Amino acid sequence: MSKSRTAAILLAAGRGTRMKSALPKVLHRVTGRPMIGHLLDRLAAFQPERTIVVVSPGMPAVAEFVAPAETIIQDPPLGTGHAVMAARKALDGFDGDVLVLFGDTPLLTAETMQSMVNARRAAGDPAVVVLGFMPDDPGDYGRLITDSQGGLQAIVEAKDADAAQREIGLCNAGIMAIDGKRLFDLLDAVGNNNSKGEYYLTDIVAIARSRGWGCTVVETGDPVEVMGVNSRAGLAEAEAAMQNRLRSAAMDNGVTLTAPETVWFCHDTRLGRDVSIEPNVVFGAGVSVGDNVEILAFCHIVGATIEDGAIIGPYARLRPGADIGVNAKVGNFVEIKASRLDKGAKANHLSYIGDSWVGAGANIGAGTITCNYDGFFKSRTEIGEGAFIGSNTALVAPVKIGAGAITGAGSTISSDVPDNALSLTRSPQEDRPGWALKYRLRKQAEKDNLTAGKKKKAG
Ligand code: UD1
Ligand code: MG
Repeated sequence: MSKSRTAAILLAAGRGTRMKSALPKVLHRVTGRPMIGHLLDRLAAFQPERTIVVVSPGMPAVAEFVAPAETIIQDPPLGTGHAVMAARKALDGFDGDVLVLFGDTPLLTAETMQSMVNARRAAGDPAVVVLGFMPDDPGDYGRLITDSQGGLQAIVEAKDADAAQREIGLCNAGIMAIDGKRLFDLLDAVGNNNSKGEYYLTDIVAIARSRGWGCTVVETGDPVEVMGVNSRAGLAEAEAAMQNRLRSAAMDNGVTLTAPETVWFCHDTRLGRDVSIEPNVVFGAGVSVGDNVEILAFCHIVGATIEDGAIIGPYARLRPGADIGVNAKVGNFVEIKASRLDKGAKANHLSYIGDSWVGAGANIGAGTITCNYDGFFKSRTEIGEGAFIGSNTALVAPVKIGAGAITGAGSTISSDVPDNALSLTRSPQEDRPGWALKYRLRKQAEKDNLTAGKKKKAG
């Protein structure tokens, strides 16, 4: 059999009680993606022959999310060794390498997964490779007991460790690469005679050594990578760490971030070259940005496509289906939803554009609203090329404004406007010369009389 075969087992049967949530822990999101989704994405680099997710009963949402990965139910959960054992039947006859991952370590990199598998296949044919790290505070982590040659002798859980073992700084990150031919033999020998009464996966190291099989450690220099999320505070820490990665990646790829720590990306944000993003911009899912785009401060962008050279913001809101064309401009307090702005179109101030098409070079005046919803149905607005929509126009959809047409400021347009026409719905202006001056004089006299009367009374 080829030695390149890998099966991944993701352990996710823990209840995650410290999250205090109805949602299974591994479905909590980091950069908009459930934690376990990040692991599945990284795993895709290996194209493992099998991916098996171990869950507890009553987690249909996890099974649904991880599909087409296979799920296996561990009922009841009796420890990490017991969890891997649950995959025995599914892996019957599999003799490649088994990579065991914890579903709540979303920051684990593909590089580390690869080095684990490489170490498993290294000379000496170790039975087990364990990912080690040196946390600032070893706390509850299992301690790695190594021999003088750097080989791994045993893992001792903190609760079961003696004082000298507790002094060891090198800890078990929880990720292992194990020879599939020996894995289940090793697990058969694991008991539960320990402080938690659980079947520890970690015990397989000492068992392998007792059989004369080698075990080794791969150490990661980045403790953040193996951060396990157990609480909402941990989730926020993982979010911060993952955001930092996305910000660094953006800058590495030629994006200017004036204040990177204030820009929030989504795991799938796509950014072109020479994009510039000012402070306090938030990206939700499904955003794609072309080259040379400027995103000014305080924008909120979700499900939008922004083409080359467009300028967005400050204070713009792009909602799902916003499709901003080349060199188009969306200015302050403009909200755009399910609408296409063609090349060079502009909506610079205070507008709502929904379910619309705006032709090339059209100008949407300040305060323009597409009235796209009648309380029951959504309707479309079409604005032709080069049209000029006067300020504070209400466009009552469905409605079409012809190419090059103009609408007068303050108009309510509810029927189609022909190309190059002017359309306006204003009531006629009436001027009364001198009226304002007379009004002020009359009112001032009234006020003066009243004040004088009050003074007389008081005196
Ligand atoms: C485990 C390791 C410890 C290591 C630490 C790293 C063991 C015995 N200990 O401890 O050496 O330093 O992780 O974070 O392995 N799970 C199941 N079924 C179970 C129990 C757990 O699927 O019956 C899953 C959990 O959902 C979780 C993972 O296994 O994803 C780890 O379980 P957890 O209870 O958090 O282990 P730790 O006590 O943290
Ligand atoms: Mg844990």
